[in-house]
Amino acid sequence: MDASFANGLAATYDTPFYAYDLSAVACRTQELMASLPEGARLFHSFKANPLPPVAEEIRLGGAQAEITSLGELHAARLAGHDLTQALYGGPGKKAAEIAAALNAGVRWFSCESWQDLKRLSEAATAAQTEVQILLRVNPAEAPDARLAMTGVESQFGFDESLLTDPEARAKVRQPGICLRGVHVYFGTQVASVGALTANTRRALETAVRLEAALDFECTVINAGGGFPWPYANNAPVPALKGLREELTTLWQASPLYPKAQLWFEAGRYLCAAAGTLVTRVLDVKPSRTRTFVVLDTGIHHLGGMAGLGRIPRSAVTFQNLSRSHAGEMTADIVGPLCTPLDSLARGLKLPVVEAGDLLAVPNVGAYGLTASLVAFLSHPAPVEISYREGEMEQVWRWRSGHQQLFPAEIPY
Ligand SMILES: Cc1ncc(COP(=O)(O)O)c(C=O)c1O
Repeated sequence: MDASFANGLAATYDTPFYAYDLSAVACRTQELMASLPEGARLFHSFKANPLPPVAEEIRLGGAQAEITSLGELHAARLAGHDLTQALYGGPGKKAAEIAAALNAGVRWFSCESWQDLKRLSEAATAAQTEVQILLRVNPAEAPDARLAMTGVESQFGFDESLLTDPEARAKVRQPGICLRGVHVYFGTQVASVGALTANTRRALETAVRLEAALDFECTVINAGGGFPWPYANNAPVPALKGLREELTTLWQASPLYPKAQLWFEAGRYLCAAAGTLVTRVLDVKPSRTRTFVVLDTGIHHLGGMAGLGRIPRSAVTFQNLSRSHAGEMTADIVGPLCTPLDSLARGLKLPVVEAGDLLAVPNVGAYGLTASLVAFLSHPAPVEISYREGEMEQVWRWRSGHQQLFPAEIPY
């Protein structure tokens, strides 16, 4: 990130802050769209980054909304999405939540279980409407993904064997339910064109099997995605070169082509590159044999996922925006929270830093703030700033803190 731009923003808004480059969002969206077969639809997974200006940029690039909560629904609305085209998913949808989503215009749902189907049917019937359903399936075969969500025991979707059971044919036919297709999300950070293609092949084959088993016309296959991008470091970016050709060949050879639509969903690939977290060094202190760099940010702003052990802890890049390279140091990089888990990196080699320096962490536009422990210790959330070509556009802040509710108030 440009040092003078970041220093200017820090002087106005204080640190820490997230800055999102909307040109990078537009560029990644265009790139991913161009990597999919002609006619395929792309959905933006709001869980990666629901910030309205970021989401709006992705919408303008041609993607629809994949949402999993009423908060994400609100963000999709702010980003200008047509909610009748949004896909609402997630393994634990409450009856009141489904009713509110229907009321907001949502009609497409990813259904995760028999209980979920029952709730969707009841809500649709009560609202005197019909919902378009994709059955989320957990195929038996394990995928190529860093965090596999299929082919293993999982809370996500129906095990395929539940849907190929002869009784399933009648069970999927419920009032208010229009069965449209199949959804398979294999996992995130799928590392190569070969693995992305193999997973899409598995999704298409699963859809063909279920079309026969359930005796319905499959008109949508949501093949998930898991398109990769480095997280919080400057590791080389995986190339998607050749993906479009591979997927097109595969798709056109499927018995479902051309009667069905092929959908994909992505969060990380669309948002990660655009986001930088800018933070101030508060302290550099020795403890026995180690040096601790204390920042004004930590796992409450970056890395709920880190707290859960998902970031390789030596793999974070810190760019020093206050001084040019003046030698290296080895340090543990920690935040201001009262837990030793508040650590962004251990034993990291980095350019020398001093108290007061401004640092930038790249590639945190996905699963940055949205995946963090924002409530822990009640610090304010960092502001989130969108910019384009060095010009600031909008400033937002996730609001946290307790607010008393009274009996007549509805929590949503
Ligand atoms: C069902 C589903 N779809 C899409 C995504 C987005 O994945 P990614 O950010 O890797 O593109 C996730 C992430 O967990 C997911 O669970």
